[in-house]
Amino acid sequence: MVRSENREIIPDTEPERQLFFINKDREILLEKEKELGRQLTYHVTTFGCQMNARDSEKLRGVLNEIGYIPSEDENADLVIYNTCTVRENADNRVFGRIGVLSGYKKKNPEMKIYLCGCMMQEKRIIEKIRKSYPFIDMVFGTFNVYRLAELMYMSRQSDSTAIFVEESDDRIVEDLPEVQTYSFKAGVNIMYGCNNFCSYCIVPYVRGRERSRKPIDVIREIERDVQSGAVEVMLLGQNVNSYGKTLDEPVSFSDLLRMADKVDGIKRIRFMTSHPKDLSDDLIKAIAESEHVCHHIHLPLQSGSSRILSDMNRHYDKEKYLSLVEKIRKNIPDASISTDIIVGYPGETEEDFEETMDVVRTARFDSAFTFEYSKRSGTRAALSENQIPAEVVKDRFQRLLQEVQTIGREKAMELEGSVKDVLIEEIDREDPFSVTGRLDNNSVVHLKGSKDLIGKIIPVRLDECRGFYYMGTAVV
Ligand code: SAH
Ligand code: SF4
Ligand code: F3S
Repeated sequence: MVRSENREIIPDTEPERQLFFINKDREILLEKEKELGRQLTYHVTTFGCQMNARDSEKLRGVLNEIGYIPSEDENADLVIYNTCTVRENADNRVFGRIGVLSGYKKKNPEMKIYLCGCMMQEKRIIEKIRKSYPFIDMVFGTFNVYRLAELMYMSRQSDSTAIFVEESDDRIVEDLPEVQTYSFKAGVNIMYGCNNFCSYCIVPYVRGRERSRKPIDVIREIERDVQSGAVEVMLLGQNVNSYGKTLDEPVSFSDLLRMADKVDGIKRIRFMTSHPKDLSDDLIKAIAESEHVCHHIHLPLQSGSSRILSDMNRHYDKEKYLSLVEKIRKNIPDASISTDIIVGYPGETEEDFEETMDVVRTARFDSAFTFEYSKRSGTRAALSENQIPAEVVKDRFQRLLQEVQTIGREKAMELEGSVKDVLIEEIDREDPFSVTGRLDNNSVVHLKGSKDLIGKIIPVRLDECRGFYYMGTAVV
């Protein structure tokens, strides 16, 4: 234990330590509010994947607890950018928007700007901020998100940008305040980090080694979510199929799904992401036999060429991937399968690309996220001298996009006219008299309805398929 200046005892266990600093930050905030005669606002902007979205819920929870008021826009007293660095355009987007924030800050001397998340784990980014963005008040990384309250307290002592980036932290801190973005669905981390080191990917460097949460903590969180109104949970991890392997009492992901399926009141369970190398027969069985696990599997292919897959360090080949798709379709006939594909990986030949197109045509994905390869410094693929010229990448990307879209439309057409359960998620962004929801297979449906349907699962007739989404009618 450590004593603070006025001899208070600072706890050295978590979450007590953060709760202590939340109180300290609250005292400081109250002083500031008195001085200014108004309340102070905050805004958290999230870039990147569901893991970041979940981290942002934790950041918001702490800020609310301190007493900041959430603001709809970035013209607030405290703005946090939770960043992503998986591809280069993610970085560019952040730096573009920081310029706008500096404009707000010039007009509001009270404004604080914090940057956190994956980009901040990169040394070159920290140098760039130090050199060119002195108006940033604090920077922290992916390993100390849970320490926001403490870092805010400490950053006040710094005249320049306060930088708190750690190389690693194995701790998993539970039970801190958080804000759920939606009342009816919740993201639940089941593991952090990644051990796979796919040759192109920066995630293992910025998120550290794989750590699984104990099943009891995961299930407790799902139960709490359900008690506060959630009907759907999304279990999150970079490779959920390797969940639980390193726990003191190892548990498989399929068994975790079986436990989650039994939680009283849960209606839909989703998960992301499944790495093909570890997708077991038992997992397919667990999904097929479960009552609430959605029949949707996101199974990133990355490339259809076995040669490229081996260079990518993916540990499966074209045949293994196609046999997995076949097994899923045989055991869960109505499963939708989505994927991620990278084009223009270093050394990719036209023949390699044709192999990818071949898998796309054979597997017939319901949907696919397609990416142009992006060079990430520090990864093995970035060192390759065989980078593919931009115009070749663009041409392949267009051809791939066309193919996945045509197939996606054909697949979506198959459900036209049928009646399916839809979880209503929000008011339609383009029509205030309509709502938008999702099928079990993750497709989007628009239908007439009002906000009291939000969070409910109702049967809907899919009247018309419009490419990737449906126009439907509630069946009463
Ligand atoms: N853990 C997940 C993927 C997380 S990153 C998995 O292994 O499937 C999400 C997607 O971003 C990846 O599936 C990949 O298609 C894409 N991606 C990652 N690094 C990339 C890079 N350097 N260039 C282009 N796309 C990349
Ligand atoms: Fe990146 Fe591969 Fe890990 Fe996915 S499994 S996060 S692609 S290294
Ligand atoms: Fe981006 Fe980090 Fe997720 S790099 S994709 S936000 S794990």
